[in-house]
Amino acid sequence: MAKVKTTFFCQNCGAQYAKWQGQCNSCKQWNTIAEEVIEKPEKSSWKSSESKTKRVSKPLKINEIDVSEDARLNSLDKEFNRVLGGGIVPGSLTLLGGEPGIGKSTLLLQISLKLPYKTLYVSGEESQKQIKMRAERINPNNSNCYILTETKTQNIFKQISELEPDIVIIDSIQTLHSDYIESSAGSISQIKECTTELIKFAKETATPVILIGHITKDGHIAGPKILEHMVDTVLQFEGDRNHVFRILRANKNRFGSTNELGIYEMQGSGLREVSNPSELLISKKDEELSGNAIAATLEGMRPLMIEVQALVSTAVYGTPQRSATGFNAKRLNMLLAVLEKRAGFRLGAKDVFLNITGGINVDDPAIDLAVIAAILSSNEDEALQNDFCFAAEVGLSGEIRPIQRVEQRILEAEKLGFATIVVSKYNKLSLRNLKIKVQLISKIEDLVDLIV
Ligand code: TYD
Ligand code: MG
Repeated sequence: MAKVKTTFFCQNCGAQYAKWQGQCNSCKQWNTIAEEVIEKPEKSSWKSSESKTKRVSKPLKINEIDVSEDARLNSLDKEFNRVLGGGIVPGSLTLLGGEPGIGKSTLLLQISLKLPYKTLYVSGEESQKQIKMRAERINPNNSNCYILTETKTQNIFKQISELEPDIVIIDSIQTLHSDYIESSAGSISQIKECTTELIKFAKETATPVILIGHITKDGHIAGPKILEHMVDTVLQFEGDRNHVFRILRANKNRFGSTNELGIYEMQGSGLREVSNPSELLISKKDEELSGNAIAATLEGMRPLMIEVQALVSTAVYGTPQRSATGFNAKRLNMLLAVLEKRAGFRLGAKDVFLNITGGINVDDPAIDLAVIAAILSSNEDEALQNDFCFAAEVGLSGEIRPIQRVEQRILEAEKLGFATIVVSKYNKLSLRNLKIKVQLISKIEDLVDLIV
C-alpha cells in the first residue's frame, strides 16, 4: 500500500487544511476540524464492464441529441413523481434528506415495493429481517425488490454486477464505507469517495441511484456541502413528527422544477399519498366556532386551504402574551399593531394566541387576512361563516395587498365548495362564470365591516 496520508477537514463545511486549527477559516465554526486518513486510490471500486465504457464523447449539435431513450421511470407514486418532475431519470443520483424518524426509510422502501422494476434496496442501518417486518406493514407482495444489508461499497458493487438491478436505493450514504479510504464511515472523505463511486456507476450504467442522507441539527444534510453539488436532485422530507403530515420538496432538481411539492400522511401501514390536502387540513364541523378562519395559501405551486385559529382573551398577568404556532411571531405582532392603529381595536391588554392547524408552517404572506379575521372573530366572540375564506397580504397602513396566483387559489376554494373568498381589490382577475363569490376589499376597515 502507498504511504498513508492524513489531512484535516472541517466536519461542518468540508474545507481542507494542512494542519489542525481551532476555528475553520471558511465557515467560522469552532472545534470542527478533525484529522482524517486519506489514501488516494489508483482506481475506484466500481469497475465498469468494458462493453459499456467504450464510449468516447464527441460534440453533437443540440438538436441532434436524442433524448427519447432517456424516458423516465415511473415510480407509481404520484407525489414522488411530481416532486421529481415526472419520474426517475435514468442515471440520476437523488439525495433524500430529513430528520431522524421522519419516514425516509419508510418512503423509499414503500417506493421500492411498488416499483415495477428490479430494485435493490441496500441498507446499512437495519437488518434484512427488520426491513422485511417493515415491508410487511406496507405491502408484502413484491418479488422484484431485493434487500441487501451491506456497508462496504466494493461488496455492494459486486452484488450489483451479479443482480443487475434497474434501480438502486442506499439507506444511508453516511453508513457506506470504501476500502480505498481509511477514515471511518460518515466522515467527509468517506462520503465524498462513496458518492463519487456511486456517480460513476450511475452514469456508466444509466441506473438511477437514490441515497438517503442524514441531516445535522441545523437542518443541513450531514457531510460536505459538495455532496449536494455532486448529486442531480436533493429532496427534503419534512414535517412535524407529532403530526401525520409529511411534505416532500425538491431543494435542487436538474430535471424539473423545485416548486412542486408532495404531501403524505403517515399511517400505521406506511405513508399514504394525499392528493387533496386541503380537505384534510380543514376540520369538518357543523358548529360554527369563533376564532377560526380559512386561508387559501400556496405551498410551492400547490394551493392549500389552511385553517387559522386565534384566541384573544384578557391578560391575566401584567404583560400580555403573544404566541404563534406555525406562523411568524413578529408578523403576528405587526398585524396586531395594524389592527390597533388602523381599525381601532384595543388589543394591547389582551393575550393573543395563534395556531395553524395540522402542524404546518406557513410563510405565504397571503395568510395575513385570515389571521386578522380569526383574531377579530375571537375578539368579538362571533363565528365567521364557515363557507368564507381569505387570501390577501396586509400592509402596514392597513391596506389589503394583492398576492401572486390569486386565480389558482380562487379555483381551489371553489372546488372545495366555499361560497365566498375575500381578496384584494388590486388583484387582476380574469375569471368568468364562477360559482364562488369573490369579495374585493381594499383596506382593513372593509374587512371589519364585512365580518363584525
Ligand atoms: P423511518 O422510515 O424509520 O424514519 P427515518 O428513516 O427517516 O429515520 O420511520 C420512522 C417512523 O415512522 C417510526 O417512528 C414509525 C413510523 N411508521 C409508521 O407510523 N407507520 C409505518 O407503517 C411505518 C413503517 C413507520
Ligand atoms: Mg431510516
